[in-house]
Amino acid sequence: MTDTTSMETAVRAAEAVEPHILCVDLVRIFTAQGVEVQALQGLNLRVDEGEMVALVGASGSGKSTLMTILSGLDTPTAGVARVAGHDLLSMKRAERVAYQRRSVGFVWQQTSRNLLPYYTAAENIAMAMVVGRSVPAAKRQAKTIELLDLLEVGDCRDRRPGEMSGGQQQRVAIAVAIANSPAVLLADEPTGELDEATSVEVLAAMEAVNRERGVTILIVTHDPAVSGQVRRTVQIRDGRTSTEVLRRSHVDEDGLEHHIAEEFAVLDRAGRMQLPAEFTNRLNLRDRVRLALEPDHVGVWPGQREREAERMAEQDADARAAQRHGRHSGAPQAAPAGTTEHSGNTEHSGNTEHSGNTEDSHSTEETP
Ligand SMILES: Nc1ncnc2c1ncn2[C@@H]1O[C@H](COP(=O)(O)OP(=O)(O)OP(=O)(O)O)[C@@H](O)[C@H]1O
Ligand SMILES: [Mg+2]
Repeated sequence: MTDTTSMETAVRAAEAVEPHILCVDLVRIFTAQGVEVQALQGLNLRVDEGEMVALVGASGSGKSTLMTILSGLDTPTAGVARVAGHDLLSMKRAERVAYQRRSVGFVWQQTSRNLLPYYTAAENIAMAMVVGRSVPAAKRQAKTIELLDLLEVGDCRDRRPGEMSGGQQQRVAIAVAIANSPAVLLADEPTGELDEATSVEVLAAMEAVNRERGVTILIVTHDPAVSGQVRRTVQIRDGRTSTEVLRRSHVDEDGLEHHIAEEFAVLDRAGRMQLPAEFTNRLNLRDRVRLALEPDHVGVWPGQREREAERMAEQDADARAAQRHGRHSGAPQAAPAGTTEHSGNTEHSGNTEHSGNTEDSHSTEETP
């Protein structure tokens, strides 16, 4: 096999590896008192094995709905949802119970919801192992101590939740959530009830779990201190993934470390994406927009009638000015990228015909 073919085979094999979390066009519709709420409206998300991803979004955007589905507590209305090889739409009761016990771990926002109040930290962890049946009885104690140490709460071993701080409770809750070595850890605002310094500690505990145990983590947060620290942050807007921020660091030639955060819009398989609200508001984009395929980008212009009328008035003025200067109005001009106009009235510019009159054409005209 040549190097090229072995590389291609490796790439195909990597692409064939199923992600730990895969949502394709996921829909969840709630019906309450005859009113339909579309909490998820065709959400797409892929989280690979070993990734740690933060999920952010406004209140009501669908974050908890997604987490409840991924945890196996709720079933989506339509679409694809697969976690660690389990199909969450088709799985039957027995598989669902096994899935909840061993394949996913969950940490809730309310510290009181994560732990049984009358049991100590060690007993809470041991209880999870008994229910999950993944650790033989003889090994439970050693594994409990190992988990408490990993989460740096060894001193809380014999304390009940009421005798621990909020941050300690959440770290013990993480230990309970990973007691049966799940592939995926889901956390819905685990730092929501904590102050900033404690939130950072809990996040560091999650990072340790991700790094040292290779557990894939999806964490919902409103906390910029949390989302700013993970490499990948996915934003949900109106029940769809809208943007992603990818963070990386690099060291320059002077040995200085730079942190770079790049924001991307999410494009689904059908070519759909959401324009950020600040863009649509600033340019008054609504109802219809014009698209233009340029060599290395796609332009988006307002498509409203008012804009059209303005443009035609500009073109008329340009034509009159050109006649006054004795020039032909259709003279070839250099069109600055991003100002190319389209003559077609189609909503979508598969039509790449250019009218020759660019918005900025007057600025490129020479005065004789
Ligand atoms: N069981 C339910 N019945 C009816 N509507 C629901 C139900 N659960 C959620 N919703 C609705 O679905 C939408 C998404 O709710 P969700 O709880 O997922 O939002 P969220 O992003 O987690 O918000 P927050 O940041 O406030 O926790 C909301 O409009 C909510 O009212
Ligand atoms: Mg929520």
